[in-house]
Amino acid sequence: RAKVAVLISGTGSNMAALLYASRRDDCPYEIVLVGSNDPEAGGLALAKAEGIATFALPHKGMKRAEHDAAMERAVLDAGAQYIALAGYMRILSPEFVSRWEGRMLNIHPSLLPKYKGLDTHARAIEAGDSHAGCSVHLVTAELDDGPVLGQTPVAVVPGDTPATLAGRVLFAEHQLYSRMLEKLVTRPFRADWLLERVGEIALALPEAE
Ligand code: GAR
Repeated sequence: RAKVAVLISGTGSNMAALLYASRRDDCPYEIVLVGSNDPEAGGLALAKAEGIATFALPHKGMKRAEHDAAMERAVLDAGAQYIALAGYMRILSPEFVSRWEGRMLNIHPSLLPKYKGLDTHARAIEAGDSHAGCSVHLVTAELDDGPVLGQTPVAVVPGDTPATLAGRVLFAEHQLYSRMLEKLVTRPFRADWLLERVGEIALALPEAE
């Protein structure tokens, strides 16, 4: 089974969803580490109770590259081949991202490319969108910008607040994430990903004289 490290900063409900999905006999991945930049993250206690190795290192007072390097060391020591960001609220350094390109996923609570960044649900409600939702994407150097592997739209209901909407989007996140992670570890996504970007790469080349 493919070895996956999950990085969290909070409750870790997506981490829990990934973990319990991995308990299926035919699940193609296993979680070998749960890492966090917050030693108090609720998900860490759950991971420990479930017998999963954990690693916590507060980022305060550390340079980004230094913190990332320590996190990466823990990930590699655990033997992880993939990283799943699950509510990891730290921007990763470009060096870290490029080393894991094609092997690192993130879940984001919006229908990307809409609403990158924070306060996604409030922004969807404010805009009068009929649907909010979630996306799982490969992580690239640009925030919330990598190729999207899958999305689930979630209807906005009259009277929704950011909190009620977030609760329903979370249900969708929990279903989507493990399916996309399974897809990543069982399919050669890298080739698709490169093909998808051929146009962009061509555009980035200097024009012929
Ligand atoms: C999830 O809704 C996730 O999509 C979001 O944080 C929440 C974490 O919840 N991630 C981001 O906003 C990343 N930019 P969880 O800790 O219960 O999984």
